[in-house]
Amino acid sequence: MEGKKDKRNKLNDLTGKEWLKLTKSFWLSEKCADDKDAFQHPAPFLIKDIMKLISLFTKQGMMVLDPFCGSGTTLIAANNLQRIGIGIDLNPQYKILAQNRLNKKHFTEGKEYFYKTGDAEKILDDLSGIDYIVTSPPYHNILKNKGGGIRKANAKGFRAGSRIGIEYYSDDINDLGNKKSYLEFLLSFKKIMQKCFALLKQEKYASIIISDFTVDKEEICAQKDIVDCMIECGFSFVGTTVLLQDNKPLYPFGYPFAYKINHMHQNIINFRKLKI
Ligand SMILES: C[S@@+](CC[C@H](N)C(=O)[O-])C[C@H]1O[C@@H](n2cnc3c(N)ncnc32)[C@H](O)[C@@H]1O
Repeated sequence: MEGKKDKRNKLNDLTGKEWLKLTKSFWLSEKCADDKDAFQHPAPFLIKDIMKLISLFTKQGMMVLDPFCGSGTTLIAANNLQRIGIGIDLNPQYKILAQNRLNKKHFTEGKEYFYKTGDAEKILDDLSGIDYIVTSPPYHNILKNKGGGIRKANAKGFRAGSRIGIEYYSDDINDLGNKKSYLEFLLSFKKIMQKCFALLKQEKYASIIISDFTVDKEEICAQKDIVDCMIECGFSFVGTTVLLQDNKPLYPFGYPFAYKINHMHQNIINFRKLKI
């Protein structure tokens, strides 16, 4: 342990020094051996990145929710830190993937974690008393665009390979990755976040992880739209942490005619449910 704990700290179990480090506005994304099992999913989190967030925004024994849980990374991160994880995902295949990962770590379903399969908008009605929400929605339909989907296995850095095929989350009409327009995607995201706001305890936090992306070849400032949606749901914006991913391949998208950005980071956009 680095530094001293303050008895007044109701947010987390960190010392002052540990807390301060996590307030930096950028973090380097960090991988670990257990991440490898998740890569049958097209867009998993890395466990250590999520552990940092959970250690900052919760104490031991608290309830962490991920309404777009995919390969179960949030549940592993929560259980590694003795928090209870609740995950939801539309695609039942991802529950099997998550269970295999969680079984390997000897975490028990129904005790340390809960994984519900179905549309988050419906399942959230049965939940309450959540201490922290961390999640990443589909990035509209980008996996269906040419070049989206799974990456080459065994590439240097195991996540750095070029795209080798198209794999999207599901064909379900409720899948946010299948919404026809970007506006429809945002409206569906907002409906889910309205329910998240209702079940989050007062004064607690929520983090949405997303990067900007293109829709019909136009660059979209997803960060702005997500912040607007969350504020409309009642959340207060408390700051963005830039999660640097400096190991991705560079693509010459516009070269040599126009500037086109290579996204090498995710935005961890943090919100709080303030007492009214
Ligand atoms: C960006 S991925 C999340 C990946 C996850 N963070 C991980 O570590 O594996 C988004 C997930 O949202 C799920 N999804 C899309 N629409 C949904 C909905 N309406 N309800 C629940 N899950 C949904 C997809 O199946 C996909 O697994």
